Amino acid sequence: MKRMKRGYILGALAIGGLLNTVNVMAADGIEVNHLGPTNTLVRVTGDSKYLLLPVQEVFEDDARINILVDGKIEETIYVRLARTKTDYKVPYDLTPYKGKNVVLDIVTNQNRNSVRDAQDDVCWDGMVLADEFDTSNKERTWRPAYHHTPLYGWMNDPNGMFYKDGVWHLYYQKNPYGSKWQNMNWGHSTSTDLIHWEAQPDAIKPNGLGTIFSGSSALDPQNTAGFGEDAVIALFTSAGTSQMQSLAYSNDNGQTFTVYPGNPVITLNSEARDPNMFWNKERGLWNLILAHALEKEMLIFSSPDLKNWTLESSFGKGLGAQEGVWECPDLFELKLPGTNKSKWVLLSNINPGGPFGGSGIQYFIGDFDGKTFKSDTNPDGTVPVKWLDYGKDNYAVVSWSDAPDGRRPVIGWMSNWQYAADVPTMQFRSANTLPREMELFADADGELHVASVPSPELAKMRGKIVSTANNKTIGTTPLNYSLPEDGICEIDVTFKARENELVTLTLSNAQGEKVVMKYDSKNHTMSFDRKESGIVDFSDKFPAVTSSPTFEKDGNINLRIFIDRSSIELFGNNGQFVMTNLVFPTKPYTNLSIESKSGQTSLKTLKIYSLDV
Ligand code: FRU
Repeated sequence: MKRMKRGYILGALAIGGLLNTVNVMAADGIEVNHLGPTNTLVRVTGDSKYLLLPVQEVFEDDARINILVDGKIEETIYVRLARTKTDYKVPYDLTPYKGKNVVLDIVTNQNRNSVRDAQDDVCWDGMVLADEFDTSNKERTWRPAYHHTPLYGWMNDPNGMFYKDGVWHLYYQKNPYGSKWQNMNWGHSTSTDLIHWEAQPDAIKPNGLGTIFSGSSALDPQNTAGFGEDAVIALFTSAGTSQMQSLAYSNDNGQTFTVYPGNPVITLNSEARDPNMFWNKERGLWNLILAHALEKEMLIFSSPDLKNWTLESSFGKGLGAQEGVWECPDLFELKLPGTNKSKWVLLSNINPGGPFGGSGIQYFIGDFDGKTFKSDTNPDGTVPVKWLDYGKDNYAVVSWSDAPDGRRPVIGWMSNWQYAADVPTMQFRSANTLPREMELFADADGELHVASVPSPELAKMRGKIVSTANNKTIGTTPLNYSLPEDGICEIDVTFKARENELVTLTLSNAQGEKVVMKYDSKNHTMSFDRKESGIVDFSDKFPAVTSSPTFEKDGNINLRIFIDRSSIELFGNNGQFVMTNLVFPTKPYTNLSIESKSGQTSLKTLKIYSLDV
C-alpha cells in the first residue's frame, strides 16, 4: 500500500499552559490524534475491508479500544498494540460499517510520561487499511498438518460442538486480536470427516453481558425453545463482571446466532460456567451440567424449554481431584460392553491439579436419573480418581451432541494453561487434539474405565507404508525404522513383552532431539519423556515425563502413535490408555528405534504410515 506520512500537525500549543492534541496523519485513510500520554483517537477515513492492528506480545498490558461507529460504542476490544516492534498484525473487520464513521478510542496502559512518548509507539505508523488479510501458514515448522487450528490468533476450549446433515461443527474460544487469551468469542470451523476443517466466520461475539465463554449446542427438533424445529441452540457463559449463562439460537445451521433477548437464563451468586446441555429422552426434558468452578463441584439443572432452568442437585464436593477449579463439564450415557445396560460418564476438566501439573481431565462413572448423578465407588466406598488422558496437553474435553450411529466423539484443546501462551508459535496458538470416541471398558480386574478410541475417520488418512516389520525379536540392540521425511505419520506397532521387561521406543532426528517412550511390563505403565524433544525452554513446566497405567496384565501392547509437526498422541490398546503431548522439534523426527532390556520381546507387527492430509 502506498504510504503517505504527513508528519505531525500540532494544534495551538501551550496556550495558557494547556497543550492541545498531537495529530499524526499515518497510513492512507487513517488519521491518528494523540490526546494524551495514554489516549489516542484513530479515525478511519478510507474505505477498506480491514484495519490491520500491529501487535507486540511482550507487553502485558492490552490497550482498551472502544470502537465507535457513528459516535456510538459498537464494541470494546483489548489489543497489545506494538510499542517498539511489531510481532504480527491482526485484522479488525470494517465491512459491517461500510459508509459509516469509524473511530477507535484507544486507552493504553503503559505509563508513558508524555504524549511525545506515546506517539513514538510503532503501532500508530503500522496501522494500515487493507482489503486482504493473509492467513497462509507462517509457522513453517510447527503448524499441524492434520489437526484443527485457528487461521490466526489464540484458541482455547472447544465449544458447542454438534453434528447436523453430515457436517461436524466445532466452535472454540477465540481471540481474533492476538495470540494470547483475551476478547473471548466463539470461532467456528466445519468438517465432513472430523479431520479436514474449514474456517467459518466467527459465530458469537461479545455483547453487553460480557465476553463469550465456553458452552454447548444442541438441536431442538421438538421446538421446545420456540426458535424453530430446525434451530440449533447454544448455551454459553456470559463473562462480564460476573459469570451468567446465556442462550443464542441459529436458524441457519450454526452459521450465525441470534442472542436471546431474555438473557441471562441462569444467574447464581457465585462463579459458575461452561453450561453443557442435552435432551434427556427418558425424562422428556433438558438437562444441563454447569461447573461451579471455585466450589469444585458440578451443578445439575433441568428445563422444559432451555430458557427456564431448575437446579436439581450438585455433584462432586470433596470428591475426586480437588486441587484446581472445575470447568467444562460433560455428562453422557455409554453402553456397557457385552450387555444391554449403560452407565453415565461425567467429565470434569480441572486446572491446575492435572496428573502432571496444570490442566487435566478427570471423569466419574456412575448413574444418572435425570436429577442426580451418583458416582460408582471403590470397594471401600471411596470415589476413585480417574484421568482421561495421561499426557500434559489435553484439556477442556467435551463431546459432540447429536452425533450419528450412537457415537460419542470428543475433542480437546491440545495445550495446558501452564504454558499455552508461551509455546513457540505466534501466528496461531494452539491446536485441537485428534477426535476420539468415548467407550467403556472393563480392565483385567473388572473395573470400568473410559477409553478414548481414535475416531474411525483417522484410519482413512493412512497413505504409503514407509516401514514395516513382522514377527521379530526386539533385542537389546535397537531395531531402527525410518519415519517419513516430514515426520508426519502414524506408527502402528504390536508387541508382546515378558514379565519384568522394559521396552523402549525412541523417536529421534539428526539434531539429537528425541522422545523416549517406555513400556514397563512389571508395573504395567507406559511413560513419555519429552525433556530432550526439541525446544523445551519456554517454560520450566514443559520438559516433563508423563506416565500412564496400561490397564492390561499380560504384556500384550498395541500402540497407535500419531505424530504431527508439534504433537504426539499415543493411543494404547484401542484407546484404553492415552497420552497427548506437545513437542517442538527443530527438525522432524525421522527415526524410530525399539529395544528391550532383556532382549526377549516379540515384535508382532509394525507399520509406519505416511498420512495423506
Ligand atoms: C477453561 C476455561 C473455561 C472458560 C474458558 C474461558 O479453559 O477457563 O472455564 O469458559 O476457559 O476462555
